[in-house]
Amino acid sequence: MIVAIANQKGGVGKTTTVVNLAAVLAAKRKTVLVVDLDPQANATSGLGVEPREGLSLRNALLDTGRLDDFIVGTAVDKVNLIPAEVNLAGVEVELARAGNHLDGLRRVLDPVEKSGVFDYVLIDCPPSLGILLSSALASAGSVLVPMQCEYYAMEGLSVILQLVSRMRNSGVNPDLAVDGILMTMYGRTRLADEVVSQVREHYGPAVYKTMIPRSVRAGEAPSYGLPVVAYAPTTPVAKAYFDVGAEFLARERLRQSVSRMTDGVLPPASSTIV
Ligand SMILES: Nc1ncnc2c1ncn2[C@@H]1O[C@H](COP(=O)(O)OP(=O)(O)O)[C@@H](O)[C@H]1O
Ligand SMILES: [Mg+2]
Repeated sequence: MIVAIANQKGGVGKTTTVVNLAAVLAAKRKTVLVVDLDPQANATSGLGVEPREGLSLRNALLDTGRLDDFIVGTAVDKVNLIPAEVNLAGVEVELARAGNHLDGLRRVLDPVEKSGVFDYVLIDCPPSLGILLSSALASAGSVLVPMQCEYYAMEGLSVILQLVSRMRNSGVNPDLAVDGILMTMYGRTRLADEVVSQVREHYGPAVYKTMIPRSVRAGEAPSYGLPVVAYAPTTPVAKAYFDVGAEFLARERLRQSVSRMTDGVLPPASSTIV
């Protein structure tokens, strides 16, 4: 099951969500592959792996290497990683030139999915509306959208959800579902509460019940090369990520039972919201 963690805005908690969800799923005995698709390589270093030139999806995408050669272990048991590196930035241009830019990632991840080695593949998307983000949405089964509880975040949210609809309606990825919207860096202010209630009113059950509180610990953890759930597991922010993991799994069970009921025809989970 491939999940893209995406929002074209930077600093909304995508990478933090990827590394912590990965660690929580691993703690629940799931095998996880994190794909770092952001040339800034924050998920890579956040999982205790030093970015290295030549070690990323770049070569697999450009067909000059085997994917297996790029999968590494991380500081977290049962969490594997395809790291990112600065050179990943140039891939957008190279893929655009090659013409098959949306299919590249799907072609690379297909054998990974079919091999069944990993229970979950989590893609950390770059903060831009470029080819890397589009190709992640083209290959994912669902999208998890972290958003900050601030005023302009609502507009950003509609942009990414429109992109998801376009992926579906254009036939590029007709079954792409919205796993959910996760409110991050929540602080008890009137503005944050207003944003949260607007988002819930608008998007209803698509919004995770759990909100991630703002926490100094969350900012500290990456400098130790660890997800905050490993670095400071008893803090409120870590507990919130454990709850997100449980909700994530419950949502998947819900989708599976729906798909069983409809005899394998899985309706997009978000068809009511976009
Ligand atoms: N809950 C939180 N509380 C405080 N700081 C956070 C929290 N989540 C993430 N951060 C910090 O905010 C910054 C942006 O988060 P990050 O996950 O890297 O966002 P993105 O991947 O969307 O750019 C990072 O420095 C990160 O450590
Ligand atoms: Mg990031």
